[in-house]
Amino acid sequence: MRFLEVSGKPARFVHFYPAVVVVIGVSGAGRDNFMPAVWHGGLSFDPPLFGVGVSPKRFSYELLREAAAFSVSFHPFEQAALIQRLGSVSGRDLDKVSAFGLEVVRGRALEVPLLGGFYAAYELEKGSELQTGDHTLFVGRLRGLWEEEEAFAAGALDPARAASLLYYGRYRYGRPEPEVLDLEER
Ligand SMILES: Cc1cc2nc3c(=O)[nH]c(=O)nc-3n(C[C@H](O)[C@H](O)[C@H](O)COP(=O)(O)O)c2cc1C
Repeated sequence: MRFLEVSGKPARFVHFYPAVVVVIGVSGAGRDNFMPAVWHGGLSFDPPLFGVGVSPKRFSYELLREAAAFSVSFHPFEQAALIQRLGSVSGRDLDKVSAFGLEVVRGRALEVPLLGGFYAAYELEKGSELQTGDHTLFVGRLRGLWEEEEAFAAGALDPARAASLLYYGRYRYGRPEPEVLDLEER
């Protein structure tokens, strides 16, 4: 075990991983664009709010600034290679949908694109934007929810039915164990 005092940027800032990867979908500039993100999370239950942290360097950031809505989708481990590819190129340089032959699902509650192949997804109405250091937190209000019913039959995700895509940092991915420790008091 070692201790490091930190004044500026640390050599590594990966200790809060593994984290579930989401894909942000947003339309603008005449195209649908998708980027993976691990800096995200639930922020409020009522109203249901979910936030994503996006760097101003991303094409998605430009689109999110202008958009009224965006999507966030949750994909299985099996799609790791595709998701890594989506995070390696910018929609500024190529249309990822046609370049990668992506399946796009249209939002039902909002005008948003969703990357096909998810086990769950959110259609989010854009709310506040908060600049936090070198990323901006875009907060979305849940207006549409998609879920693979069998995967959530227990009331929460069953990892035996859908293996979330986990990110460890440095482009390393994994999946959770299928076993669940259910500690609900009966
Ligand atoms: C697994 C993974 C997670 C990422 N998480 C984030 C994130 O949370 N926020 C962010 O701004 N960029 C994140 N990125 C980087 C963007 O996805 C990447 O720069 C992408 O090419 C941006 O695409 P765009 O320019 O079309 O928006 C991540 C990349 C990968 C591969």
